[in-house]
Amino acid sequence: MIEPTCIPTLERIESRLRSQPDQHLEFLAHRELIERILELAARKRVLILGHNYMAPLVYNLSGERERGDSLALSRRAAQSDAPIILFDGVLFMAETAKILNPEKKVLIADPTAGCSLTEPFTAEDIREYRGLYPGSPVVTYINSSAEIKAESDYICTSANAARVIRHAAAEHRTRRVIFFPDSLMGANLQQELVRSGSDIELEYPGRRDRRFGRCEVHEQFTARHLREIRLQHRLPRGGPDSAVMVHWECPPEVLAEADFHGSTSDMARAVREHPEWKRIYLATECEMAANLASEFPEVEFIRSCSFFCRHMRKITLEKIAASLEQEVFEVTVPEPVRHRARLAIDRMLAIP
Ligand code: 13P
Ligand code: SF4
Repeated sequence: MIEPTCIPTLERIESRLRSQPDQHLEFLAHRELIERILELAARKRVLILGHNYMAPLVYNLSGERERGDSLALSRRAAQSDAPIILFDGVLFMAETAKILNPEKKVLIADPTAGCSLTEPFTAEDIREYRGLYPGSPVVTYINSSAEIKAESDYICTSANAARVIRHAAAEHRTRRVIFFPDSLMGANLQQELVRSGSDIELEYPGRRDRRFGRCEVHEQFTARHLREIRLQHRLPRGGPDSAVMVHWECPPEVLAEADFHGSTSDMARAVREHPEWKRIYLATECEMAANLASEFPEVEFIRSCSFFCRHMRKITLEKIAASLEQEVFEVTVPEPVRHRARLAIDRMLAIP
C-alpha cells in the first residue's frame, strides 16, 4: 500500500499556496479540477511525482517526498509500490521512472514534453566517443534518452555529477571520463574538478569537436544579465542578506558571477540553510522560484519569467486530469534498452 500521505488533501494544497495571493487565486479558479485529480489519484492509487520546475498548482499535487529534482524523484520512483506512477515533468524523467519500475504503469500527461539535451545525440555518438577514448567510462547526464542511457556506464544528475565522475574514474583506474551530453555542464564540471585538485580529464561534446548539447533555457543566461539583476535588485556579490544562485547547466561565465551553483534541490537546500537571505535570484526555470516563494513567504524571490522551459509548461492540470482518467500516455521502453539503461542507473544509485 502507498502511504496515505502521498496524496495531499485539497486543504493542504490551499494552505501551501495561501501566502502567495496570485497562486491562491489560481487555486480557487481551479479548485474543482484539482479535487477531481486528487480523487482519481486516490482511487487508482497513483504516485504523483512532481519536478521542481512544475507550475505551483501542478507541483503541489505531489506530496512532500514526491517533489524534487531528477535524483530525488528517481530514488522515490525506485521505492514506490503504487501500481501507477504519473510523472509531472518531462519525458526523460518519466522514462527513468519506467526503467526503474518495469512492472508499473508510468504515465505522462503530455509525451511531447521533451528536452533540448536529449535531442541532438544518438547511441552512435557515444559509441564514437568510446572509439576515440578506449577504456574511458561514460558518465551520462540523466537528461538523455533511454537509448543513450543504455549505452552508458553510469548515469548522473546535476546533484551528484562530480561524485559519479570521481567514482567512475577510480573504478576504471583512469584519468579520462567521457561525459554526455551537456557541453556547458561538462565545462563547468571540468573547472570544478580542477579547482578541487583532481586531475580527471573530461571529454564532452564541444570540447574537441563541433558537437554541442545544451539546455535551451539555461544557455540563455549571461554574466551581463546577472550583473544587471544584482544592480537593480540590491543583490551585491557575497552580500549578507541576499544571493544569486545558478544551475549547473548555465554557461561557465554565469557560474563565475554567482554566489552559489547547484542542482535544483541544492538551490532549495541552500535557501533552507540560509534564513538570513531575504532577496534571492535564481538563474533557472522561473517556476522554481514560484514554488520556493510559497515555501518561504518571508523571502523575496526576484523572478524573470522570460526564462521558462516550454517542455515543462506542457504539463497542465487539464492534461493531468485526462491522463488519470484515461490512463494515458503510457511510457514504454523496449526491454533490451531498459535492461541496459537500468544497469547504468543502478550504478549511480549505489554510489553513496
Ligand atoms: P535537476 O536535476 O537539477 O532537477 O535539473 C533537471 C533539469 O532539467 C534542469 O534543467
Ligand atoms: Fe531540458 Fe532545459 Fe527544460 Fe531542463 S530546463 S527539461 S534541461 S530544456
